[in-house]
Amino acid sequence: MEKKKKLLITGGLGFIFSHVTEYFVAKGWDVVVIDNESAGSHPEIIDGSFKYYKLNVADRKVVEIIQKEEPDYVIHAAAISDVDYSIREPYETFHENMLANLNIFEACRELPKLTKLVYISTDEVYGECEHRKTEDEIIFPRNPYSCSKAVGSIMRYAYDNTYPELFEKTAETRFCNVFGPRQDTRKIMPLIKHSLETGEPIPLHQDGTGYREYIYVKNIPPAVELVMEKGWRTYNITLNDGLTVRQLIERAEKVTGKSIATYTEKRPGMDKKYQMSSERIVAELGWKPLYTFDEGLKEYLTDAKK
Ligand SMILES: NC(=O)c1ccc[n+]([C@@H]2O[C@H](COP(=O)([O-])OP(=O)(O)OC[C@H]3O[C@@H](n4cnc5c(N)ncnc54)[C@H](O)[C@@H]3O)[C@@H](O)[C@H]2O)c1
Repeated sequence: MEKKKKLLITGGLGFIFSHVTEYFVAKGWDVVVIDNESAGSHPEIIDGSFKYYKLNVADRKVVEIIQKEEPDYVIHAAAISDVDYSIREPYETFHENMLANLNIFEACRELPKLTKLVYISTDEVYGECEHRKTEDEIIFPRNPYSCSKAVGSIMRYAYDNTYPELFEKTAETRFCNVFGPRQDTRKIMPLIKHSLETGEPIPLHQDGTGYREYIYVKNIPPAVELVMEKGWRTYNITLNDGLTVRQLIERAEKVTGKSIATYTEKRPGMDKKYQMSSERIVAELGWKPLYTFDEGLKEYLTDAKK
């Protein structure tokens, strides 16, 4: 019988990667999760179907554990991921996110059986995007969170170049704004969903002019799988559905036939516009998303169970 493939996921209890953990478990993979159950985690998914270490990835012990586990694939997604928190707590954010990155690259360079390490990054590493950014453009992060994520992107180049064992065995994803079940309730999509359910108004930053691209979380596990199987460099993952927050609210009102009340609130350190091109992952890896933006939005906003 063929041996099950082993996948180790850091941050595998978080909003996005809890879906990835469940996806690979359902496909029969041998899944190992390392997570410290900090902000964003969903320990309720722990059901014995995957091996679990409750541990801080910034702790050097992680290197030994990963080497002992000998995974075929590693996805590094664990990070302090809240921009506002990173502005309030820059020391903690840099310390945790950068040491976590370092531990993962150090562990992976000594994994003889490693097939692929996927570093999970973000569109925020580009900073303000006056046009659709492509992967080889300069990165210019503009807040502590995105800067700590960009450090991982740069580290990946450095490790790929320094250690022949890792050459073309690493890849990176940069997602646009992901939405869906289990998202932090302070983010715009859960606020919209909550407002539709309760009638409570939602805060508008910069008068609702902030422009983002959005993707439904159920598109993410197969996209990450594709990068694990065929990727060897950086891939933007977006549907190129860019909207201002005001337009997003209008779209939600249209999908549900309900109206949403808002009020104004200030937010420091907020970039006005992120937009990326997904041409590379489509052309080179043949990516086909499962859900369009509207399909994802409709399922998320109208199906209470999802
Ligand atoms: N949410 C988005 O729209 C988005 C967009 C682009 C990229 N990303 C990236 O995707 C990844 C996941 O994002 P998310 O929104 O699901 O985050 P999240 O905050 O919901 O989940 C993060 C998970 O990582 C764990 N974690 C954090 N620091 C850890 C540490 N030092 N050791 C162990 N576990 C730790 C948390 O407990 C949590 O389970 C992050 O790397 C983030 O930068 C997210």
